[in-house]
Amino acid sequence: MRTFVYTSRPSRVVFGAGTVGRVAEEVERLGCSRVLLLAGPSLAGIAARVREVLGDLVVAEFDGAAMHTPVEVTARALDVLTEVSADVIVAVGGGSTTGLSKALAVRTDLPQVILPTTYAGSEVTPVLGETRDGRKTTRSSPAILPETVVYDVDLTLSLPLPLTVTSGINALAHAVEALYAPDADPVTDQQALDAIARIGRALPRLAADPADPEARSDLLYAAWLAGTCLATVGMGLHHKLCHTLGGSFGLPHAETHTVVLPHAMAYNAPAAPETMRRIAEALGVPDAPSGMYDLIVSLAGPTSLRDLGMAESDLARAADLAVATPYPNPRELTADGIAGLLAGAWRGSRPEGPPSTEAALARLTEEVVASFARTPDPRVRTLMSDLVRRLHAFVAANDVTDAEWQYAIDFLTRTGQICTPTRQEFVLLSDTLGISSAVDLLTNSRTPHTTPSAVLGPFYVAGPPETPLGSDISGGLHGTPLWVDVRVTDTDARPLKDAVVDVWQSNEDGFYDVQLPDLDGPVLRARLRSGGDGRITFWSILPAHYPIPADGPVGQMLDAVGRHPYRAPHLHFMFDAPGHRRLVTQLFVAGGAYLDSDTVFGVKDALVVGFTPQSGPTPDGRRVDGEWRRLDYTFRLAPLAG
Ligand code: BEZ
Ligand code: FE
Repeated sequence: MRTFVYTSRPSRVVFGAGTVGRVAEEVERLGCSRVLLLAGPSLAGIAARVREVLGDLVVAEFDGAAMHTPVEVTARALDVLTEVSADVIVAVGGGSTTGLSKALAVRTDLPQVILPTTYAGSEVTPVLGETRDGRKTTRSSPAILPETVVYDVDLTLSLPLPLTVTSGINALAHAVEALYAPDADPVTDQQALDAIARIGRALPRLAADPADPEARSDLLYAAWLAGTCLATVGMGLHHKLCHTLGGSFGLPHAETHTVVLPHAMAYNAPAAPETMRRIAEALGVPDAPSGMYDLIVSLAGPTSLRDLGMAESDLARAADLAVATPYPNPRELTADGIAGLLAGAWRGSRPEGPPSTEAALARLTEEVVASFARTPDPRVRTLMSDLVRRLHAFVAANDVTDAEWQYAIDFLTRTGQICTPTRQEFVLLSDTLGISSAVDLLTNSRTPHTTPSAVLGPFYVAGPPETPLGSDISGGLHGTPLWVDVRVTDTDARPLKDAVVDVWQSNEDGFYDVQLPDLDGPVLRARLRSGGDGRITFWSILPAHYPIPADGPVGQMLDAVGRHPYRAPHLHFMFDAPGHRRLVTQLFVAGGAYLDSDTVFGVKDALVVGFTPQSGPTPDGRRVDGEWRRLDYTFRLAPLAG
């Protein structure tokens, strides 16, 4: 049973995209009307937007916030604040602007509304760090905690990638240290683990596309969670080291956090194995400290204190300062231990994880993914990175053997070798694995008002012979005569004129003409053009179910998994109508075989229709002895987007 104390820090949080539009409302909600607006000089565009929303509520502005919150800067801002009798502070920016806002609030007790543009998290903590005569001091007070935080994802979209990475890792550090804090509690644990998992997922996505709004939203949300952890429980070795390196050696804040975190984790790992296991799980890596290092490398983040400008000769003094005053930390702090940690961080070496195949595999995966870092097309980079990650994970999860992988390569080689201009075994493979249908679903997911699409299949031949409405496309082949009378309309049921409609099908034995070299010319395939009423009519024969070509590698695969190779009987259609999206689909014969086990997963309920048995006179007066069938259907096409 766990015994704990949980203290919540009440702030009002408004989260979303475009929430900057609500900042005036939030000021008024606090009963205020005279805003001192603080904004960093580099945020001119964002500040202009906040100013526009606040309008006449702004009585003064100050853009001189500086790193580590020097008291001289605070004094100047305080003069401005007092002179205009401001009754609320609105701050937009990163840690420095938030720091200045807090410094003013603790001196005046004025309420604060903060709009963060980075992931530092200080907007939800009651802690203020200030510098006086080059010395940094920290204090905590409820008056320091901002009343309202407006998180607007849009304000973070243009944060440069290197800053995004270091600021994101800074947030990760809050969550990591919260997990092994002596005053940790279960609520904070959950927030920390959620933050770690979200940051671990969002940063690689942003490295591929820095303006990805979903990843930005995830990261900002995680930064809030991590900031809340920082506000709730005490931090350990990592924060202490970063504080020392920033305060006494002038190293930049977020970059220092990024370099030190894997090393501080590695130092603490032997004393906090369960915490490291949970962090590793949240990050999806086998070992937390080295996984953290690999993540930073894959994001091209900084990995060495040397690169941040620290002199090697300063390491010993930094180690002494870091152990000078005791503070809670999972592993005892020894001068030698910390000196070793700092030496590793200075060199930028990878913290050693336990030697394991998993760790080696994870390193290999990251190495391959990192090799795509300079791919010019971001989409290609994303697809290649994800493909490699999933293939490596597949190999690992199934313990794939040499022989099995060799078999797979041989299978794919044979799949390629059997391909000819009229035999596409890779399409068959994609179809029988349901991938073609999956891509089709994603690409052509239309509204319920349009006819569903279905796979093209390998038997389509471009540019079939154009034939007049009402013709017979069966080329005299034997079979049950079929009268097709279909309409092409838009989504409002208006007929579409001049739609070019390609149709193709198998004969009654289940073969397409391209599979029958003895046939003379295209048969059971044609191109028709709709008239003013949107109608297409033609004679054909009833299509039969058929096996897909099963004499190659795909057939062997179906055999090996105990599947049959049959397609349910169907007629193929391709529509191209002016102003409308191309529709490729099939109509299936209701009551036909294999409707519920079509080998290419192509059947959709809305495409199963009656090919109704008939006898007697035909629609165009053609003489048919015995049974014939008719197919009536209306296809609805989607308009071209935009
Ligand atoms: C076809 O319907 O023509 C087809 C579709 C996928 C694989 C094989 C054949
Ligand atoms: Fe077919």
